This record gives sequence, C-alpha cells and structure tokens, in this order.
Amino acid sequence: MNTNLQNYYIHCAEHYEEMYQRPESQTELAGIAKQLQHLLKNRKVLEVACGTGYWTELYATKANQVLATDSCAAMLAIAKAKQASDRSGTKKIDYQLADAFTEHNGPFDACVAGFWWSHIKRSEQSVFLHTIQKICGSGTVLVIFDQCYVEGTSTPIARTDSGGNTYQIRRLPDESRHEMIVNFPTDSTLRKKLAEYAQNIRIVRGTYYWLLTCVLR
Ligand SMILES: C[S@@+](CC[C@H](N)C(=O)[O-])C[C@H]1O[C@@H](n2cnc3c(N)ncnc32)[C@H](O)[C@@H]1O
Repeated sequence: MNTNLQNYYIHCAEHYEEMYQRPESQTELAGIAKQLQHLLKNRKVLEVACGTGYWTELYATKANQVLATDSCAAMLAIAKAKQASDRSGTKKIDYQLADAFTEHNGPFDACVAGFWWSHIKRSEQSVFLHTIQKICGSGTVLVIFDQCYVEGTSTPIARTDSGGNTYQIRRLPDESRHEMIVNFPTDSTLRKKLAEYAQNIRIVRGTYYWLLTCVLR
C-alpha cells in the first residue's frame, strides 16, 4: 500500500471530480463514457479503485451488476452518497472498501479500472494483473484507462525512482503537498506487460487519455 497515495485521496476526495470539469477534455471524457457503456453492457463488472464512482454511475445503467471497490473510505463515501440519492442504475452497484490487490468472489465477466494503472508500481503491475485474472477468469473483458502526459498541462514529473516509476508533487486546495506515483506508460510498454495475461489488446490514445481493452487469457 502506498501511504502517500492513500493520504492524498483522503484529502482530495471532496475536490476530486473537479478534474472532470476541464473544458478541453470534455470530448475525450464523453468518448470514454460511451466506450464503457458499450463494453460493459449486460456484464457483471468488477471495478477496481472506483473512487467517487464517477464512471461507475455512468456505465452501471447498462451493466447487469457491479462490485465497485476502493481503498479510500472518503472517496467511497461520495460514491455511496450518490447511490443514496438513487440515480438510475445505481441500485445495481455494491460499493466495498477494499485494496486493489484483494480477491473477491465473482462471478465477473468484465473488469474496469480508471486512472488506477498510473498509480501501480511497475514491479507490482504483474501482481495486479495476476490477481484480476484469478478473480475474473479467462474470457473476461478488461478495460483500463488513464491519463497521458501533456507537456505544459500535466503536473511535471518530480523524480524517477530506480524501478522506473515517475512521481509528481500535487498540491491540494488546502495547500498541502503530496508526492505520488504517476506512471505514463507507452503503448509498447502496456502491450508488453499485458501480453502474458490478455489477448486482443487494443489501445486508443487521445491527447489527454488512453484507453486499453483486452480479453483475459
Ligand atoms: C485517480 S483516482 C481514480 C478514481 C476513479 N477510478 C476515477 O476514474 O474517477 C485513484 C483511486 O485509487 C484509489 N486507490 C489508491 N490506492 C489504492 C489501493 N491500493 N487499492 C484500491 N484503491 C486504491 C484511490 O483511493 C482513488 O480513489
């Protein structure tokens, strides 16, 4: 568990969804929402690191059932509050406090993780994929999406560790500063990492975000 990361999300929960308000990224975000609704339609979905449930409630209207997990109670509390307001589709969602490397009882035939891959240490990415494979099984659709590094817009990389992980120092409205792991993989790195666990790997890369779909072996 990355304690800096946990600490950051505890403090940023209230403001987290502001990142989805930027005018320049609205077209790409709408594209991701459309893709999720299409790919997860009629599926039993495991969502890892669901945060405030921003994407969960967008695709849950199409999915059969959703188990959405996150290790930050403050982020999950926001997701649950939306559910309590009973928007369409949210009754299908079970929100649970859990680490991304925790095993769950399925069955699932889809797994989605948004803006989570960048936070996994390169040395732990295979462990994560192995865990998902073990939980969900062969034939499961895996959807991963995350941010691209945009020169002049993204928070600069503060350092790179000996494992090749990159870190940013993010500031929150309360002026607190948090160093956190944020990796920006190339398509080729993603393909190499996923190849052992999945087939039919497709990656769509926009200016601000990339989205990978594949089928678990
Ligand atoms: C960038 S947010 C993404 C939230 C949501 N998926 C979205 O796209 O809006 C990253 C999330 O990862 C969660 N997280 C951090 N470490 C985690 C861990 N070890 N296991 C599960 N979730 C974790 C944080 O609490 C946070 O909600």
